[in-house]
Amino acid sequence: MAKRKPLISGNWKMNHTHLDAIAVVQKLAYTLSQADYERADVSVHPAFTALRSVQTLLDADSIPIALGAQDVHPAESGAFTGEVSPPMLAKLNVSYVIVGHSERRQLFGETDEQVNQKLLAVLKHEMSPICCVGETLEEREAGETEAKVLGQLQADLKGVSKEALARVVIAYEPIWAIGTGRNASPEDAQAVCKAIRTALAERFGAELAAGVRAQYGGSVTPANIGDLMAQEDVDGALVGGASLDPEKFAQIVRWR
Ligand code: 13P
Repeated sequence: MAKRKPLISGNWKMNHTHLDAIAVVQKLAYTLSQADYERADVSVHPAFTALRSVQTLLDADSIPIALGAQDVHPAESGAFTGEVSPPMLAKLNVSYVIVGHSERRQLFGETDEQVNQKLLAVLKHEMSPICCVGETLEEREAGETEAKVLGQLQADLKGVSKEALARVVIAYEPIWAIGTGRNASPEDAQAVCKAIRTALAERFGAELAAGVRAQYGGSVTPANIGDLMAQEDVDGALVGGASLDPEKFAQIVRWR
């Protein structure tokens, strides 16, 4: 069965100017070694305004950190003021695009239908979507975690082909754990990531499902990453706050 290479991603959200972004990536590249990149894939997701600067730096110094975006519009081009299209990202050598982050869903009203359109557009342009799913505290307390997460998964992955599935990354981000300092227990993260894989296996077959990476996200720190990564179905992390600091993020990438 396919051995999954972990993916550690830094979602910077609306932080870091392009100048800050350059400094952070320079420090990160200085800290991480070839052995780190062999053990895990690493991506950083700056704001749109910093993508070009970070791309130039990564290319010029041949730094093996993948460039990621935080969102995308599903259309190729058109009258969508303020939006950024998949070809615009692809031309910047963006490898990973976050879709359906809970902040997009909660603060900007994104629906599963929109997330699905974005995910398909990312795949069409040969990039990898990082599809975020997760429950609210109320849903968890009502015992609805799996129903919520698997419902989102089903809707967000509508129309994804077996060939394209290998490029899809799922990020399980319980909403109550994001930016709260309250992370899911490693066992909770494992249970949901396993349920995600089981659902993928039912739809795409066990072999393909075994190759899909499932990240955990929500208050990941250098202190808790080790226990999370020790779980069989947790294949990496989507890190918010702790990824803004290159030293902390490097420690997460070098988990033990
Ligand atoms: P925090 O790591 O700041 O909790 O954010 C998690 C997140 O939303 C990553 O996408």
